Amino acid sequence: MTYNDTLIRASYKQETDHVPVWYMRQAGRYDPEYRKIKEKYSLLEICRQPELAAEITMMPVRKLGVDAAILYSDIMNPVASLGVDFDIVKNIGPVIDNPIRSKADVEKLRPIDVDKDLSHIMETIRILDKELEVPLITFAGAPFTIASYLIEGRPSKSYILTKTLMYSEPEVWKLLMDKLGDMVITYVRSHIENGGKAFQLFDSWVGALAPKDFQTYVLPTITRIFAELSDLNVPKIYFPGVSSGELLPTLKELQADVIGLDWRVSIAEGRKRTGGKFAVQGNLDPYILTAPMETIKQYAKELIDEGIREPGYIFNLGHGLFPEASLDKLKELTDYIHEYSAAALKNK
Ligand code: CP3
Repeated sequence: MTYNDTLIRASYKQETDHVPVWYMRQAGRYDPEYRKIKEKYSLLEICRQPELAAEITMMPVRKLGVDAAILYSDIMNPVASLGVDFDIVKNIGPVIDNPIRSKADVEKLRPIDVDKDLSHIMETIRILDKELEVPLITFAGAPFTIASYLIEGRPSKSYILTKTLMYSEPEVWKLLMDKLGDMVITYVRSHIENGGKAFQLFDSWVGALAPKDFQTYVLPTITRIFAELSDLNVPKIYFPGVSSGELLPTLKELQADVIGLDWRVSIAEGRKRTGGKFAVQGNLDPYILTAPMETIKQYAKELIDEGIREPGYIFNLGHGLFPEASLDKLKELTDYIHEYSAAALKNK
């Protein structure tokens, strides 16, 4: 098989013979084989075994035939190197015993040391670089999203403690954003040096902010991250997470290639709001996957018809896959996306 670079081409708005597809959280619990591995090891234990982490990364590529792999890891992994102890607790998510809530807590965060603390993740990337025939997407959590876990100590719905710090102590907040921005830049650079072929910045929860506050408290750091990584010759994806439609017009100057959309904004509207500059990725509501196959295909068809009106479209969900999703349906959907989009692009 020859190397499939469709994702890279679509990210740069070049012509492709089909629409590339991958799914956020495609390595995971909907797959019985993965669940079996999880009976033996925790996520963090798997990440410390590069051969196993690489194998799990490749499973959805083999089983679904997607056009990209996404590194099996978690957005929390690099914060261990800053000196933060955390755990990923079943059915909850990231949990931190000593949350970061004061100036002293933020000042204590160390700079990331990839060689000392995260060499296992770089080894996983090197293994995958040898094995894969599709691009490997690596990723980092964006500063707001990481900060929300560090400050709340666990997943939150209101982000009350995060917003309290942001609005009450803007200098401490800025120091935290600066430190997390530095972490992302160093970490992502290492990913690409070790063989990553694209990266996505996950800002899953930043849609909790009004556009004005996003611009004041978060966007300067996002802008700096993409500017400082602009020399890397790989597609750069920003996913502003759920409910981020109102933030899209603020992203126009970002030095990214692709913007990920959630399902509340159409592909055409997402393009319009971001000034037509970026390729777009998304945005099927993941829970549509619970519908009958014919309904799923109808939604996918409409998305593809809209997506291919302009160059630069990558099929994805609007947020991550959930554990109850069906492997068989995902396989059928992936095949359908490939077949239908190839025919539609030919007839264009
Ligand atoms: O996409 C992939 O398949 C690659 C692996 C990946 C994981 N986490 C593995 C994981 C990726 C890209 C992530 C990113 C991540 N982690 C995000 C951004 C994406 C998003 O969904 O918005 C966030 C917010 C996290 C933090 C996190 N980690 C949460 C909220 C949870 C879920 C808790 C739960 O049990 O539902 C985790 C745990 C986690 N990370 C799992 C996986 C496969 C599930 C638990 C497990 O299998 O151990």
